[in-house]
Amino acid sequence: MSAIEVTSLKKYYGQLKAVDEISFSLTQGQILSLLGPNGAGKTTTVEILEGLRERDSGDIKVLGMDPWREGYKLHRKIGVIPQGFRFFDKATPREAVKYYADLFNVKVDPDQILREVLLEDSRSTIFENLSGGQKQKLGLALALVNNPELFFLDEPTTGLDPQARRTVWEVITSLKKQGRSIFLTTHYLEEAEKLADEVAIMNKGKIIASGTPQELINTYGSGKRQVMVTDSLEDVFVKLVGTPIEDEGENIDSKKKK
Ligand SMILES: Nc1ncnc2c1ncn2[C@@H]1O[C@H](COP(=O)(O)OP(=O)(O)OP(=O)(O)O)[C@@H](O)[C@H]1O
Ligand SMILES: [Mg+2]
Repeated sequence: MSAIEVTSLKKYYGQLKAVDEISFSLTQGQILSLLGPNGAGKTTTVEILEGLRERDSGDIKVLGMDPWREGYKLHRKIGVIPQGFRFFDKATPREAVKYYADLFNVKVDPDQILREVLLEDSRSTIFENLSGGQKQKLGLALALVNNPELFFLDEPTTGLDPQARRTVWEVITSLKKQGRSIFLTTHYLEEAEKLADEVAIMNKGKIIASGTPQELINTYGSGKRQVMVTDSLEDVFVKLVGTPIEDEGENIDSKKKK
């Protein structure tokens, strides 16, 4: 069964074709990663799926619901980390989790939730004093409060150091193990390759390639299969989009390892 089903989704901002007739699906219990350069249309797509933005046309079902018409019902079943997540500067993670629990009218153990995202040690640090990675982990913690079956994570690891990124990956992997579905946008090809069951590459509003990471490598890669040099999702991306994704040196690091 599909957690998300999208057919011919379109959203223009005036003349700008932000999302230009895209179709894809996310199978329940899997991770779908939407990859693409700045301005590709990823956040616009995510916001439409979350019911925050109205589409021009196309059919969408998210957990069987139309996100725009049934937003209120849907919001109880999804967990969201918006791009560039922020919270009140003076609130602590513990207070933030309690606040969210009140909003959703659910009872949770804040310490247990903060433990799940490895943020327990900073539970009493005010938001403005948390590191970038800790802030993102708080975003994940808040997304967990209503025990959702589907998560929308819009660039959850952008700007994080490698260790913090790995912690977020661990949390995402454990969510998947619990049978939850995850829609993940990222600039990090290594992240998509590691986590995603399915990848869709988006450019200028269109999905230009999709499949499992291995299928994409098999289809668009150079076919090199030597001991030291193998195709990666990054090679596929550069071939399709023309330029590597700018990602603060991560590409260089990942190339060094190969
Ligand atoms: N509210 C808006 N009004 C007008 N144009 C918009 C609006 N939101 C986004 N856009 C434009 O739509 C295009 C797609 O933007 P979007 O934020 O969906 O891209 P993205 O793939 O998430 O990029 P990034 O990787 O930088 O987050 C961009 O050209 C952007 O300038
Ligand atoms: Mg975005």
